[in-house]
Amino acid sequence: MASSSIPAGGHSDPTRRDFLMVATGALAGVGAAATAWPFINNLNPAADTLALSTIEVNVTPIQVGQAVTVKWRGKPVFIRHRTPEEIKEAEAVPLSALPDPQTDNARVTDTAKKVRPEWLIMIGVCTHLGCVPLGNKPGDPKGEYGGWFCPCHGSSYDTSGRIRKGPAPKNLVVPEYLFTSDSLVRIG
Ligand code: FES
Repeated sequence: MASSSIPAGGHSDPTRRDFLMVATGALAGVGAAATAWPFINNLNPAADTLALSTIEVNVTPIQVGQAVTVKWRGKPVFIRHRTPEEIKEAEAVPLSALPDPQTDNARVTDTAKKVRPEWLIMIGVCTHLGCVPLGNKPGDPKGEYGGWFCPCHGSSYDTSGRIRKGPAPKNLVVPEYLFTSDSLVRIG
């Protein structure tokens, strides 16, 4: 399975090589979980549809400070393992400073209402005109607010994926997700 997160070339950089291994590991987890899913839900009439709309990702290989991109329903999904500094920064922003006010806490809460501030999971599509923002790969510009930067028209997102500057009107969208264990997250 290909992902837009995997850079072409750049194999001489050990940091990048580590990143590739992490990304591949996460995607392998997706494949295995997607295959198993129909058997679990086979009594549900909508099982086939659900199987296609849900992925499960093993987040264990994603180190603190790293991010990966996985594909879900044809879209990139960013999973960032935030550092304590990134979390602190996101939590400290007053709602009055946000064009699309939303607490950091609300963005890192899964569907079972469990809050995991270290994991930020978002659809990686800029809310302006749909480009994929930069900030997941080592060496990517992260913008003025340390999160993601969309080079198409210059939108900057913070370490919670909230829009802070530029033409994008909304925060990066957090999809429904559920941690089924400390290492597995189901998206969708
Ligand atoms: S599409 Fe991202 S700033 Fe325009």
